Amino acid sequence: MKLDLQPGPGRHLSDLLFATGVEFPCGGEANCGGCRVRVLSGQVPATAPMRQVLSEEEIAAGWRLACVAEADGPVSVEVDQWTVRILSDEQSVALEPRPGRGAVIDLGTTTLVVQTVDLATGEVLGVETDLNPQARFGADVMSRIQYQLHHPGSLTGLIRERLGAMLQGSGPLEEILIVGNTAMHHLFCGLDVEPLSHVPFESPTLGAVQVELDWPGPAIFLPNLGGFVGSDLLAGIVATGLDTSSHRTALFDIGTNGEIVVGSSQGIRCASTAAGPAFEGGRISKGMRAGAGAIDSVHAGLECRVIGGVPARGICGSGLVDAVAVARQQGLILPGGRVTTADRRIPLTPEVALTQGDIRELQLAKGAMAAGLKMLNPHPPEKLYLAGAFGNYIRQSSACAIGLLPEGCLVEPVGNSALRGARILLLTPSTRRERLERLLSITTHVELASDPDFQDLFAESMTLMSYTLE
Ligand code: FES
Repeated sequence: MKLDLQPGPGRHLSDLLFATGVEFPCGGEANCGGCRVRVLSGQVPATAPMRQVLSEEEIAAGWRLACVAEADGPVSVEVDQWTVRILSDEQSVALEPRPGRGAVIDLGTTTLVVQTVDLATGEVLGVETDLNPQARFGADVMSRIQYQLHHPGSLTGLIRERLGAMLQGSGPLEEILIVGNTAMHHLFCGLDVEPLSHVPFESPTLGAVQVELDWPGPAIFLPNLGGFVGSDLLAGIVATGLDTSSHRTALFDIGTNGEIVVGSSQGIRCASTAAGPAFEGGRISKGMRAGAGAIDSVHAGLECRVIGGVPARGICGSGLVDAVAVARQQGLILPGGRVTTADRRIPLTPEVALTQGDIRELQLAKGAMAAGLKMLNPHPPEKLYLAGAFGNYIRQSSACAIGLLPEGCLVEPVGNSALRGARILLLTPSTRRERLERLLSITTHVELASDPDFQDLFAESMTLMSYTLE
């Protein structure tokens, strides 16, 4: 994310950055590199302490250490700490050639991806990524909905403006297809979010919406499947061919919320679970997104790998799943989740430890996903696709060992299936309507939270043990 700063003469950037939440892992001693920023505009001289830590190539590319950086005038910087992995997708897909350009947008709760596509060749011409600017008003969909209720229209304008800026330079577009979860759909389209703020979380306005905007082409937000299961999952179904395959297939999307789809061309069931944000680092004492300083994998003996090769600042979802699997194997955690050390902590690095509370949060999140899958279909799918960034980086053996994924089915990461599905729909205009109508007609949304069987399965699925479907 870009930050615009207006330092006074000779002023340290660290004062201004500290106020925005940037952390200085070594206390500003210029020896850890954890406060790296890249100067996008303005003058920030490279100093001798910076050259001790950064390579000549990095200095030439504009990287500086914020803790010892000074500037006399306005500067724009990108903060490395806030860099998260944003998945795009460029796999070639079926195409009905037509002239012109189009675009697809994956409007995520956390991240945004805009792809411009050549409609004649299917080639991806450009990709723009950014963080969702609504995030500062709440990390999860519920807090965004509450904010919009108290500040009507505010989040709608914010996201339309950011996406519009990301489309600048794309040239005229024949059409723009947008996918996202139900809350993102309502916030973008300016629909009433009140029905999504309470049980049973069912909105009457789930359909596709064409929005008139001052954009380079007409924008259509694709329809939702029900509850909080949005058009990102609908596009995921298209990308994996789940709606046209005779084989029983499952699709997991684990992010700030958890969504599950199971079925085939004969019928599809989908649900969202309040899996909580543990897999994105939320409610974990040292949790963070998968950016620089995050422990992203843990191996035998609790040996940790940290993104960016800097001192660990926290742990992201894939690291958490690994750490708990390894700690279980070493007897540091019992199947019921109890930490066996005297102080109920599991140190991973000098800076980062797991607490008993962290293990409980993970149990809630993984229990909700496993119970949701069992409720939607007690039989093993032939294949289970894992969507999203988490699915790309998670180690399957660890996820199975702690009972997040079932044992014995073929698991395949599918990357940004939402973006790919949207691109397939963009590039096959003659069959789009018919395919979507059929997909919606064979798909049933299941409300899990109010089902007493789900509560029983949820409690049972919280144990940190592997499971198989019958
Ligand atoms: S805080 Fe700047 S290098 Fe460590």
